[in-house]
Amino acid sequence: MEIIILHAPGIEKALEKELDKLGLTINDKSRGRIIVDTDLEGLYKAHIYLRTAERILLKMGTWKCHNFDQLFDGIKELNWSLAIDNTWNIKIDKVRSYRSEIKSSPITQKTAHKAILEALNCTEKTNNRKPANIRLYWDKDELLVGLDLTGDGLHKRGYREEAGKAPLRETLAAAMIIYSGWQPGYPIHDPFCGSGTILIEAALMDLNIAPGIKKTFTFEQMNFHEEDLWKKVKREARLQAKRELTSPLSGGDNYDKVLDTARLNAKKAGIGDQILFYKEDATKGEADFDEGYIITNPPYGERLQDKQKAEDLYRSLSQWNESYPSWRKVIITNNEKLEKLYNQQAHIKRYIQYGSLDVTLYQFN
Ligand SMILES: C[S@@+](CC[C@H](N)C(=O)[O-])C[C@H]1O[C@@H](n2cnc3c(N)ncnc32)[C@H](O)[C@@H]1O
Repeated sequence: MEIIILHAPGIEKALEKELDKLGLTINDKSRGRIIVDTDLEGLYKAHIYLRTAERILLKMGTWKCHNFDQLFDGIKELNWSLAIDNTWNIKIDKVRSYRSEIKSSPITQKTAHKAILEALNCTEKTNNRKPANIRLYWDKDELLVGLDLTGDGLHKRGYREEAGKAPLRETLAAAMIIYSGWQPGYPIHDPFCGSGTILIEAALMDLNIAPGIKKTFTFEQMNFHEEDLWKKVKREARLQAKRELTSPLSGGDNYDKVLDTARLNAKKAGIGDQILFYKEDATKGEADFDEGYIITNPPYGERLQDKQKAEDLYRSLSQWNESYPSWRKVIITNNEKLEKLYNQQAHIKRYIQYGSLDVTLYQFN
């Protein structure tokens, strides 16, 4: 079987590293999607181990599709009963069309929907049926059809019912850590830690805790699902988890309330109080270790403070060169002037699109 792994554009290199570690082979990739050839065990592992993926779909098929007849016939022929039957509530969740004759429109959705209903002999309409979400992607008239296996997005780890004012997406925090080159054992300090997402993601990596281990997924109700194999994969993941952190992880923030949230989230994530959270002005901190990583998501200006204030703050961060001299600094922001304000050229810059926001990940070695 093939699965389509969805990710935020810009984090693919981090995801590829994860796939390599899991022993999953990439068949194909395009913007925001990586297609992997795997078996059921690989599908299960991808769901619980991947830290940077957003969602996983079962690849149902791909073919040249220029018109609605080709859409209807092609969709009707797919092997839907491998996964679902007429007890599911079919929904065409997303249609994306790029450089293709068929565009995203209500007729496209209706045609695809009708074809699946016919394929599954669905006649009755009842409420409260399990949702089967289907996505259609066209590129140069080539249609790719995927069935959602995940349900609630993979970024929802379950530890963050409490969030700060502008929380970072868990998957993006994980990508920042992977891109930074950090390895367990080395210190990380997040001087703008907010609800603690970056540090909690680092702790999960250090403790070898699979981020999706506590989640339930849509595939668990699908026809191909093998409960015994699923339990085995989860049991193996639990056995690999450690209890004690090897890395000194600390977070500062100048807002008391958000630090309480961070402590609570760390507890919910199973890390207890092993991350040190304390009140501090980010411009005044000093390194406790000779080497380490600052990985952080300062206020952008749009949502938390006004832009001018944020830029003044970025300017004062240049003093980290004295207070954290040999530390690698990894900063994410949507401000394109960061290097100028920080008075240093980044060694690596990565452009990431998440949600409606374009951000840049700057790495200063
Ligand atoms: C964008 S948020 C960080 C969100 C965090 N990554 C999370 O996942 O919740 C920025 C944080 O910086 C804090 N902050 C703003 N100015 C600060 C300063 N001068 N020193 C320390 N923290 C500051 C805010 O209270 C806020 O929690």
